[in-house]
Order: sequence, then C-alpha cells, then structure tokens
Amino acid sequence: MALIVLTSASGSPGVTASAVGLALTWPRPALLVEADPTGGSSILAGYLRGQTAPASSLIDLALAHRHGQLEQAIPEATVRIEGTSAALLPGTRSHTQAPSLVSLWEPLAAALKSLERTGQDVIVDAGRLGLTGFPEPLLYAADLCLLTMRSDLVSLSGARSWTQTLRAGFERVGGCASLGLLMVGEGDPYSAREVRKVLQTPVIASLAWDPAVAQVFGRGAKAPRKFDTSPLVRGLSAARDAIDATVAADRAEIAGQPARSPMGARA
Ligand SMILES: Nc1ncnc2c1ncn2[C@@H]1O[C@H](COP(=O)(O)OP(=O)(O)OP(=O)(O)O)[C@@H](O)[C@H]1O
Ligand SMILES: [Mg+2]
Repeated sequence: MALIVLTSASGSPGVTASAVGLALTWPRPALLVEADPTGGSSILAGYLRGQTAPASSLIDLALAHRHGQLEQAIPEATVRIEGTSAALLPGTRSHTQAPSLVSLWEPLAAALKSLERTGQDVIVDAGRLGLTGFPEPLLYAADLCLLTMRSDLVSLSGARSWTQTLRAGFERVGGCASLGLLMVGEGDPYSAREVRKVLQTPVIASLAWDPAVAQVFGRGAKAPRKFDTSPLVRGLSAARDAIDATVAADRAEIAGQPARSPMGARA
C-alpha cells in the first residue's frame, strides 16, 4: 500500500524501535528496510539478536543495480522474520559502505514503490538526517515521512531547522510525499499540540514511553507480561491507523477528491 520512512533530526529518539514495532505488528505483509547509513545492522544485532546471518544486504543491491538486476535481487536479499508477516532488508555492516549506497537510493526507492503491486507495505529506518550516505531519495519518494522525536526542548530545537528544510524539499520535489511527526514519549514535557504549533508540522501519532516493550523491538528482549495490551503496542496500533488514514487522505487529495484541511484532522 505505501512507502513509510522514519528518520530523526537529533538524539536517538526511537526510530529503530518504532520502525521494528510497526513492521512486526503491521496488519499486512511489511518489508522493513534498514537504510540507516550508520551501518552495523542495528536490527540484525538488536531485534534479531545476531542470530540471523543473511547472505546479502543493501551493498549487494548496489552491485546488482550496476548490473541492471536490482528488482530481481531484492527478494534474494530479504530475510523473513519468523512468526510474523514481516521481512527485513538488512543494512550495511559498516559506515564505510555508506558512500557506495548513494547511487542506490533513487532506483531502490522506485523498486520499493513498485512492491505495492504485491500488496506489501514498506517501512524504512532511515537513521539520522544529514549523515553521509543518508537515503534522501527514499524520503522524497515516500508516501509519508515521519520525523521521529521526543518532546523535550532539545528534540524540538533539533527538529526545528530540519522540518523547514524537509518541507522546502517536499515542495520542490512535489509528488505525493508528506511530512509528519511521530512523537515518542509525548507530554514530557510538551504536548503534541504544542510541538505541532512550534514545528508547523502535523503530529501523525504518539508512542508511549514504555522501556520494557521498546527493548523487545530494539534488543529482542523477552516480551514482558501484558505485552499485547501495553501502552506501546496499543500506540503502535493507533499509529498504523493514523498512517493509513494520512496516506489515504493524501492520495485522495492528489486524485482531486475533497481535500483535508491542512492540519485540521491531526493534532
Ligand atoms: N517508546 C519507547 N519507550 C521507551 N524507550 C524507547 C522507546 N523507543 C525507543 N526507546 C529506547 O530508546 C533508545 C534508543 O532507541 P532506538 O535505537 O530505537 O533509537 P534510534 O532513533 O534508532 O537511535 P539511533 O539514531 O542511534 O539509531 C533504546 O534504548 C530504546 O530501547
Ligand atoms: Mg536506529
């Protein structure tokens, strides 16, 4: 259905844990793409606890692209995540490989978008904005780019200039991309409404601060009691609904149907 990209402006607000949480609890088949140019495969080492050794990764896709075989290579580089309907496209092992990915991002964005035909949604962990090898073309090709952030002053200050840059970028590129915020630990201390007002960007969803459950997605820790009804898992479910609604509204708007108000339906 859609290409959803999660990124951050500063700190480590929870991009990886949130992307993994969304992919694992997604109601449709989801492909989780580890596009953080920092390398080190934080999902392989984190959620999968280093117990899966994929034969290939994004770097092999860069090579396949050079030989005109990118689309065929994606399924080969993809690892099924057992017990879920999600799969992982593992990232690079080292930050030194990031420059080799630069020419991959644009064709990869097109290839990921074409997965929609197969009924698969794509969720991308793009890591921190502005790093060398950052997958900017994935952001601009996305149906929804979620700037993930906490709600303190440091996070707001870090996000402020980036929301301006991204908004200008999305306007320049046009297309169906839309920018929104994913709050982690909203209300500590600022509310979604306050953050939205300062950043002039809609808050699409808020995820609870829930360290024990976040460790399940981030580190592959054992699920705590009442995992399924935990604040974070319930928040992920609400986030999925909000993401679906946002993408559907954006598409309707592009198709010329009645538009939503610019910020109205969102916090
Ligand atoms: N909703 C949450 N509740 C509590 N802790 C969380 C939540 N989301 C993430 N965390 C914790 O915050 C820390 C950073 O999370 P994570 O690695 O997902 O962030 P990141 O934005 O991907 O960081 P980086 O930019 O370093 O890749 C981890 O210890 C993780 O368990
Ligand atoms: Mg991360």
